[in-house]
Amino acid sequence: MSELLISGAKPLYGSVKVSGAKNSVLKMMAASLLTKEPCILRNVPNLSDVQKMLDLLVDLGTEATWLNPGTLYLHNANEISCYGSEGLMREMRASILILGPLLARVHKAHIYYPGGCAIGPRPIDLHLKGLESLGATIEQEQGGVLFLYTKNGLKGNRIYLDFPSVGATENIMMAAVLAKGRTVIENAAREPEIVELQRFLSNLGANIHGAGTDTIIIEGVEKLKGTEYTVIPDRIEAGTFLLAGAITGGCVKVYGARADHNEALLYKLHEAGAEFFIGSNYIEVKNQKKPKALRIRTMPYPGFPTDLQPQITALLALADGTSLVTETVFPDRFKYVHELIRLGANIVLEGECAIIKGIPKFKGAKVLATDLRGAAALVLAALAANGESRVCELEHLDRGYENFSEKVISLGAIVERHN
Ligand code: EPZ
Repeated sequence: MSELLISGAKPLYGSVKVSGAKNSVLKMMAASLLTKEPCILRNVPNLSDVQKMLDLLVDLGTEATWLNPGTLYLHNANEISCYGSEGLMREMRASILILGPLLARVHKAHIYYPGGCAIGPRPIDLHLKGLESLGATIEQEQGGVLFLYTKNGLKGNRIYLDFPSVGATENIMMAAVLAKGRTVIENAAREPEIVELQRFLSNLGANIHGAGTDTIIIEGVEKLKGTEYTVIPDRIEAGTFLLAGAITGGCVKVYGARADHNEALLYKLHEAGAEFFIGSNYIEVKNQKKPKALRIRTMPYPGFPTDLQPQITALLALADGTSLVTETVFPDRFKYVHELIRLGANIVLEGECAIIKGIPKFKGAKVLATDLRGAAALVLAALAANGESRVCELEHLDRGYENFSEKVISLGAIVERHN
């Protein structure tokens, strides 16, 4: 069992560079299935989820090569299989994003329900409803196998999403770019990763507009070409490191952090009394004082991101007063709280809310990570804790943070990784 040994209560000082965005690059990798020409992706983070997506694509027939660390060459010239392997699809949530491209390219897909962080049920009903609206027929076979096919190719349609689902928006976008006619996605997700996917698809020659708003309009085209594309910095990693600076009372400069992608967090950090400076290509946070208590409510973008909920809860566990965090996106995203309590946090869970009574300091302890962002929250708390901590089950962390321990060590943390 891999673990981090952390000797805490050391304020972090220095600068760190954010890696490429996990939740952007995984979709562009899937989108490469839409064209027979080569795609080159730059600033690709070295993450286990990226490797899993790569394994899944190669299993479908993609030719993949690392041109150098961080630069990925993907070529789908050959015959593409429609069979998503169960083992690989169960590895992560993003595997479901091969569905739209497969339907667009080979007009069928034989897939399994995806895996993903245990943060609540991860249904795909909005994905399926949207693809059905484009003309896909769906057969649920036994053993959790879904077979989707379309006899005469996909046709554009008007689709309303009951919830602005990021993945459903992305799957429909990727299916619609090669469909016949116009598709309008209403109540679409507005995350920066959606805007990036639109940019990537436009570079391939797609006719798509509106990403970043709640209405995306796509005019299907005959075929797409290849492209070269640089992945944006990961806004959740950036937010995690800003919170690491705040929770340890240090001063951390995060290169690649973009204020326009982290407005909600910056607003809340300001409200908590943290000082930060927004530079041309970095954000620097310094937080010498105890944070003020806050009320946080996670919402779809541009609301406060659910992916930073665990990390800011760790900060608020040390706040002056009682905070309230309400998780409205994933019903089971407080599992890590039980581990935070082992570090001394005073938190009561009431349904979708966490009531957090500020304590003076965390005390070092052994804690188990339960999911990707929960793992990050536990590391942040351990970095602030008095004494030694051990954070176990690091495979969760490795899914979404490239070289995490090296980065915190470069900021002065005393951390040892034992695999
Ligand atoms: C993406 O997940 C991200 N993952 C998540 O990041 C992120 O938390 C989430 O968007 C919200 O921002 C990737 O991009 C790989 P959703 P996704 O579809 O697409 C419900 C991380 O830590 N829903 O917007 O799965 C769903 O149950 C991960 O990096 C349906 O009901 O998120 C959830 O309650 C965690 N039916 C809500 O919508 C559906 O068909 C949001 O899900 C689809 C979703």
